[in-house]
Amino acid sequence: MIPVTIDGVVQEATSGERLIDIINRAGVKISQVCYHPQLGPIQTCDTCMVDINGQLVRACAATASAGMEILTKSEKAAAAQREAFDRILSNHVLYCTVCDNNNGNCTIHNTERLLGIEHQPIPYRSKPYEEDHTNPFYRYDPQQCILCGRCVEACQNVQVNETLSIRWEDPHPRVLWDGGSTIGESSCVSCGHCVTVCPCNALMETSMLGQAGFFTGLPKHALSGMIDIVKGIEPETGYGAILKLSEAESHMRESRVRRTKTVCTYCGVGCSFDIWTKDRHILKVEPLEGPTNGISTCVKGKFGWDFVNSPDRLTKPLIREGGKFREASWDEALDLVARKFADIKAKNGPDSLAFVSSSKCTNEESYLMQKLARAVIGTNNMDNCSRYCQAPATQGLFRTVGYGGDSGSIRDIENAGLVLIIGSNTAESHPVLATRVKQAHKLRGQKLIVSDLREHEMAKRADLFLHPKPGTDIVWLSAVSRYLLENGMAHTEFLDQWVNGFEEYKKSLAPFTMEFAARTCGLSEDTLKKVAHMIAEASGVCILWAMGITQHSMGSDSSTAISNLLLITGNYMRTGTGAYPLRGHNNVQGASDHGAMPNFLTGYQSVDDPEVRSRFEASWNVQLPSTKGLDNHEMIEAVYEGKLKAMYLFGEEMSLVDSNANFVGEGLSKLEFFVVQDIFFSATCRFADVVLPASPSLEKEGTFTSTERRIQRLYQVFEPLEGSRPDWQIIQDVANRLGANWSYQHPSEIYREVASLTPLFAGVNYERLEGFKSLQWPVASDGTDQPLLYTKQFAFPDGKARLFPLSLTEPKEQPSAEFDLHLNNGRLLEHFHEGNMTYRVDGIRKKTPDTFIEVSPELAEERGIQSGTWVQLTSPYGQVRVRALVTDRVHGKELYMPMNSAKSPVNRLTSSHTDAVTHTPAYKEASVRLKVLPEVGESPLPRINHRFGHPTPQNGVEVERKWKRPDYRVPGNGLVQIPTN
Ligand code: SF4
Ligand code: SF4
Ligand code: SF4
Ligand code: FES
Repeated sequence: MIPVTIDGVVQEATSGERLIDIINRAGVKISQVCYHPQLGPIQTCDTCMVDINGQLVRACAATASAGMEILTKSEKAAAAQREAFDRILSNHVLYCTVCDNNNGNCTIHNTERLLGIEHQPIPYRSKPYEEDHTNPFYRYDPQQCILCGRCVEACQNVQVNETLSIRWEDPHPRVLWDGGSTIGESSCVSCGHCVTVCPCNALMETSMLGQAGFFTGLPKHALSGMIDIVKGIEPETGYGAILKLSEAESHMRESRVRRTKTVCTYCGVGCSFDIWTKDRHILKVEPLEGPTNGISTCVKGKFGWDFVNSPDRLTKPLIREGGKFREASWDEALDLVARKFADIKAKNGPDSLAFVSSSKCTNEESYLMQKLARAVIGTNNMDNCSRYCQAPATQGLFRTVGYGGDSGSIRDIENAGLVLIIGSNTAESHPVLATRVKQAHKLRGQKLIVSDLREHEMAKRADLFLHPKPGTDIVWLSAVSRYLLENGMAHTEFLDQWVNGFEEYKKSLAPFTMEFAARTCGLSEDTLKKVAHMIAEASGVCILWAMGITQHSMGSDSSTAISNLLLITGNYMRTGTGAYPLRGHNNVQGASDHGAMPNFLTGYQSVDDPEVRSRFEASWNVQLPSTKGLDNHEMIEAVYEGKLKAMYLFGEEMSLVDSNANFVGEGLSKLEFFVVQDIFFSATCRFADVVLPASPSLEKEGTFTSTERRIQRLYQVFEPLEGSRPDWQIIQDVANRLGANWSYQHPSEIYREVASLTPLFAGVNYERLEGFKSLQWPVASDGTDQPLLYTKQFAFPDGKARLFPLSLTEPKEQPSAEFDLHLNNGRLLEHFHEGNMTYRVDGIRKKTPDTFIEVSPELAEERGIQSGTWVQLTSPYGQVRVRALVTDRVHGKELYMPMNSAKSPVNRLTSSHTDAVTHTPAYKEASVRLKVLPEVGESPLPRINHRFGHPTPQNGVEVERKWKRPDYRVPGNGLVQIPTN
């Protein structure tokens, strides 16, 4: 710490700290239009000029040194600040009263108020450009753009989509998309970073326009008239009077605009933000303080909420009668559910019922569902969709390091010297997490290796891209491990001190020579050696993986091989290292954590442990079943075997997202009684006997747990849509009709019970999670959490990790003469999973209306396929008809089909093969034959899809080019007199 003086008052600062941060911390008010703490110094506005020994410096760019004396209000500094701001006003009209951005947080308005400028010596100059409304989610108004460049910095260096730039050399600079395209036809992925950081109304969410203010919804000509009046009276009244009026209007808005904190309902990154609403209209999503994301979002979190108010929402329970559904009252539907469950249990025993929890719903709801299964019905037949994706990764970590979760936070990934991404399309499936890797790679020299079948965005950015043959990751991972051990590149001290099982593991590597790996994986030995050397030379290695690893018949073993590799190279126990299985759904981590599994109660406490059971039995006052129940995969088989008669599923689209969908659908139709609880009439509802209308995340309270093991609270934004109910209330209603006598009034009471029964969450409570506060498990009873795991020991009784020996497993399905093409599948950025929510977002549907099959240029030429050609894909399990998209993202005879389709779900083509340990389906091991159909349609992706854009990477906003303009000079030489109030 060093002392500095601000306006004569001594302040403590850290050496090298930005002056602006010290000034702000001291509570000294100073103008700072372009500065945003999460963007760093951009230096485009000059409004933060301060006086240090008579020299003017930009407080956002200068850093502290001991004894520095900073004057923020000297005559020189004040004149410079006013002149700089006056130049800004020459680009912007202050019509605040009729502006949708007049909400108390407009930087221009507030700076005008701070500096008290009354009249503009430099007049407003119109720019020769029209507004751009070609993106469905936001619009750009060049006339109001002050050229601060925040948006450019955010796009180039935070989101790293590199779409935005300002050509400072132009006579009338403006923000450019792809160097001059319309927004709609650019590479913009609609993440919203630029809109979020824009300090004024130049970039605004379409959902705000005409909605936020009392006068902003006026017709355009009336609005223009009012703006002209404002401009007309300004010379006489000065800005002070105009601002007073607009501030009164802004205060009026407070009574009708609500800002509510929530957590994103889509992927597992766990972005949190405020949602601004006016009645049931969503004005905007404002990310700012989220511990994971700060100002970041992707298109789904920022703009993907139309589904909440969709007319398709279920608002009445439905009961199947005579092959058709009829509407029913809640009482009738719940009575029927309880009666049927009780009858089936009485007739066939508790294990004839099964329960599937939702990884989209809250921790509290998963807890109640498993409590219903175990304590009320008496079965462990309980699972969630981590069975479809994450269970093998969890297994790999259980085997080797002890906890089934990411070993650190996203911040720890940012600190790695090398990030290795395997089988994860991170930029599309975990977009905000990917931005942090892209930033570290672009700005801080982090190295990146990507191994995947597809050459997706992260692959294109990588320093090294590997394209192994499908299903062979375990081979190259083990071969690299063996090579490191044999060539003295393992971390022997770490192994000696922290790891058990070395000799047996080393023996198991015998078959995995470089030569064998190169042949099996279709990679060169040189490439594999390069991987090994990059790992050995890196200051720290984080490995990120997802479904490309887990959804294989050796998913658990490949995950284990990843953790083994990290252990032998000492890449655990410190920041910048560790294992990161990227959780797919917003709460897939939490659903498993909270006991929605056939073998675990909450916090991975085993159902066959008598001590655990007796603790729960004492609390719940019941006898609990002690043997592992059925998982999702086994449930369907048990239906076919006639053992499983009834199922209760909420918030899951099982009939589309389980593999071998035809087989699963037929299984579901054989159930004697099937209850589905959802917000829409999903494809799975077609098989139901009773459908119960639930409420989405914005209509309830609770907690979600993200991929970082981060538990966060969501607050209720809207009342449940009339007729629907939060899932926890429905589950409680069912339980009580079966005699449970539960009386939870609020999810916080449910969590209190969870914490009391679960050492992993002992210190979690709603007070500690208030607002944007969060906790990363394990959480001790005093509230201490662990953002980085294993800093003191591994999670085994002796504190040591375990190397786990592996043997070779081959994929269960390989292309053959009959089914000659490999079919890969997964997500797209703009749609989530099957698309039940995202197809109900207008803008997303326009930009990405349908699924498609990606075909390589080579295969397209060989078969005479072009983008838009209809093809029929046939596997041993089913058929789909879909349009082709020719792209170099896929190679040779490998196809890729995004899973966002209810009409042509890719899972009609996948098999029932599973990972041997966890029963996770081997979705990624599918082979098909392709028949070209005579019809040729439009390209399945319209021209306004971002994939057709051409980004313009550059080094941030590049303000030096502005400073080189002949008309630029540093403000503060006193040439311009600025009248103030
Ligand atoms: S990608 Fe589009 S929405 Fe995201 S910051 Fe860039 S321009 Fe803005
Ligand atoms: S559009 Fe960009 S450059 Fe213009 S005011 Fe907004 S953030 Fe600044
Ligand atoms: S989908 Fe994922 S990355 Fe996108 S805003 Fe939501 S949590 Fe963040
Ligand atoms: S805030 Fe320092 S130059 Fe803009």
